Amino acid sequence: MPEILITGASSGIGLALAKRYVDAGYKVHACGRNKDKLQAMLPESEQVRHVCFDLNDKAAIFEVAKDLPDLDGIILNAGGCEYIDDAKQFDSALFERVISVNLISVGYCLDAWLSKLTCASFLVFVSSSASFLALPRAEAYGASKAGLTYLAKALDVDLAGSGIQVSVVHPGFVDTPLTRRNDFPMPCQITSAQAAERIFKGVEKKQFDIHFPRRFTYLLKFFGWLPHITWRHLAAKWIKR
Ligand SMILES: NC(=O)c1ccc[n+]([C@@H]2O[C@H](COP(=O)([O-])OP(=O)(O)OC[C@H]3O[C@@H](n4cnc5c(N)ncnc54)[C@H](OP(=O)(O)O)[C@@H]3O)[C@@H](O)[C@H]2O)c1
Repeated sequence: MPEILITGASSGIGLALAKRYVDAGYKVHACGRNKDKLQAMLPESEQVRHVCFDLNDKAAIFEVAKDLPDLDGIILNAGGCEYIDDAKQFDSALFERVISVNLISVGYCLDAWLSKLTCASFLVFVSSSASFLALPRAEAYGASKAGLTYLAKALDVDLAGSGIQVSVVHPGFVDTPLTRRNDFPMPCQITSAQAAERIFKGVEKKQFDIHFPRRFTYLLKFFGWLPHITWRHLAAKWIKR
């Protein structure tokens, strides 16, 4: 049976992905922080093994590697979002929290687990379409995801020919506990099951940039291609704070 590890498998997109890969016949090493939550959302079985740790704990991530078999895929999906509400009172503790969980921890995971990938496997990073352009209040989240996308691109270059297929996922708005906290309009929102299907199919097709829903992500990509000064003008006009 092929085996895959998914971080953030206790909720939202990661949970939907874990279910999709179980349906496809994979054994899933499902990661989360809380054993009871994981058990409630995705009970352990012949095809599901729970792996509990906090991504900020580098030693725990290396400990996890000791019990991992060779893997056919790793999906680094876990992450968090917090907004900078007042740029003039820049909250460096918030900035550190977001960059740590969304970017620094990914470095720990690569260090600890990359050697577990077989020579015909996939490595997937869940970034965000927020990385395409500068969005208000997203100084921390957007920077973490832009960094993650760059990391994926550089690794894709360095791992070319290794047999490891790298993909980076840029979702638009997906209905999950993370987005249910947002207090602004979220156009073109899709369900986590729809997002998981798009990611599953994109990985199957060996796509590098998996982005969806396209009617939304192409628009963001277009604005991202504009000169920053033009985008700044449009953003100030259109996006109400
Ligand atoms: N939803 C969207 O619209 C959207 C759009 C673009 C990108 N994304 C990205 O998609 C990914 C998944 O987001 P989601 O919407 O599915 O969020 P979610 O429902 O809040 O799930 C987040 C997952 O990450 C795990 N996690 C968070 N902090 C962790 C930590 N310190 N250590 C270990 N695990 C941790 C959570 O585990 P616990 O259960 O233990 O908290 C949970 O399983 C994130 O990287 C997010 O940035 C989401």
